[in-house]
Amino acid sequence: MEKVKIGLLGFGTVGQGVWKTVRMNRDDLIHNAGLDVEISKILVRDMGKDREINPDSSFLTTNPLDIIEDESIQIVVELVGGIEEAKDFLEKAIEKGKHVVTANKALLALHGKELTEKAEKRGVQLRYEASVAGGIPILHAIRESLSANRIEKIMGIVNGTTNYILTRMSREGISFDEALKEAQNKGYAEADPTADVDGFDAAHKLTILASLGFKSGVDFEQVYCEGIRRMTPTDIEYAKELGFAVKLLAIGTEREGKLELRVHPTFIDEDHPLAAVNDAFNAVFIEGNAVGELMFYGKGAGDMPTASAVLGDIINVSRNQHHPNPQAYRLDFPKNRKHIMSMEETQTGYYIRFMVKDSPGVLGEIASTFGKNGVSLSSVIQKGEGEESVPLVFITHKTRESAVQKTIRQIQKFDAVTEVANLIRVEALS
Ligand SMILES: NC(=O)c1ccc[n+]([C@@H]2O[C@H](COP(=O)([O-])OP(=O)(O)OC[C@H]3O[C@@H](n4cnc5c(N)ncnc54)[C@H](OP(=O)(O)O)[C@@H]3O)[C@@H](O)[C@H]2O)c1
Repeated sequence: MEKVKIGLLGFGTVGQGVWKTVRMNRDDLIHNAGLDVEISKILVRDMGKDREINPDSSFLTTNPLDIIEDESIQIVVELVGGIEEAKDFLEKAIEKGKHVVTANKALLALHGKELTEKAEKRGVQLRYEASVAGGIPILHAIRESLSANRIEKIMGIVNGTTNYILTRMSREGISFDEALKEAQNKGYAEADPTADVDGFDAAHKLTILASLGFKSGVDFEQVYCEGIRRMTPTDIEYAKELGFAVKLLAIGTEREGKLELRVHPTFIDEDHPLAAVNDAFNAVFIEGNAVGELMFYGKGAGDMPTASAVLGDIINVSRNQHHPNPQAYRLDFPKNRKHIMSMEETQTGYYIRFMVKDSPGVLGEIASTFGKNGVSLSSVIQKGEGEESVPLVFITHKTRESAVQKTIRQIQKFDAVTEVANLIRVEALS
């Protein structure tokens, strides 16, 4: 049995989860992994803070070098969050020859390429399983178990906060603002919910998933990102009527050597397995050219699920210490940077809700404008009568974004069209 000494940078939700899991499952770690994990030192900002877990003060330090420069510590685990300080800590630990584990998706999406390259050059391992979908071991599956496949599509619900909000809106018919307030009261959403509701957190995760999955360097800025703030109960009702669920999806597709990478609210066929993923749960759906379709489902956040992933990394790093293959988790592929399509080049289905004056011929005029631009329609719903402004809803077949945007620009100019109330992309089962 091997003893591995680790240093924790950060002792918040995840850090304390790691502490609890090591204590709770010590026998299992020894039995299953042959590893006795010992937490030697913990970095915090405030030594006197009252936490759920209050270790003896001899464990705590406010000086990161007490961990990074401690010769007896083999693995440094970064759980402070944020970008600059976390990056500095990781770089210093790598320079000192430590193996490193992190759960920090924002840091990896922005600086993962340099960090994984630095780790490779220094001959140490950098692992980050908990950075995508918390407890779901999706990165290990992509990098190891599925490496005999060419991955063709990755589609994930990778942000629990937005999935909770959309589930509540869908079940209760409440507004986005009401559902967000509820999520904040329950601790699912931060006081500043921007990273979640505007899609950035999901885009960070897609950057990591796509780099590993498609073996191509991806820059975070290349991922199209749209959040859920403009979702309304009206659009969710239409989704249900048309046989769809509404989800914030992170979608990566490879077509003819080119990548499509986008995060946006999506109408997804109610028979698709992702449509049944509700509340704060996460799921990642993958299509591999040998394995076919797979779906991974579980808790994408929380102290213990995230700690489970962090400890999985610690076990893997420890096992590989004597036969290191640090290249395995690189995020850059300088010789294999695939073209990433602009949003205009991408192809999907569309739901478009117009508000129009209730006058004869409007439906025909709009439908023929779609046709003239080569956009074929799969459904039309016209409701209301006699009111000044009535909704007119169209669902298109799969088509190029540029053709849809061009059509909408033309339709917007019609006197009878008072508003383009919403546009939501559609993933229909083919
Ligand atoms: N929470 C989740 O469910 C979850 C899931 C997946 C991934 N993650 C990622 O895991 C990381 C940690 O998240 P968390 O929720 O555990 O964060 P958290 O609860 O805010 O904890 C952060 C910890 O880091 C310490 N810290 C922050 N800056 C520091 C500094 N400059 N020097 C020393 N200590 C510092 C804090 O010290 P004090 O205790 O003294 O304030 C605190 O203990 C983040 O990158 C997050 O994105 C979290």
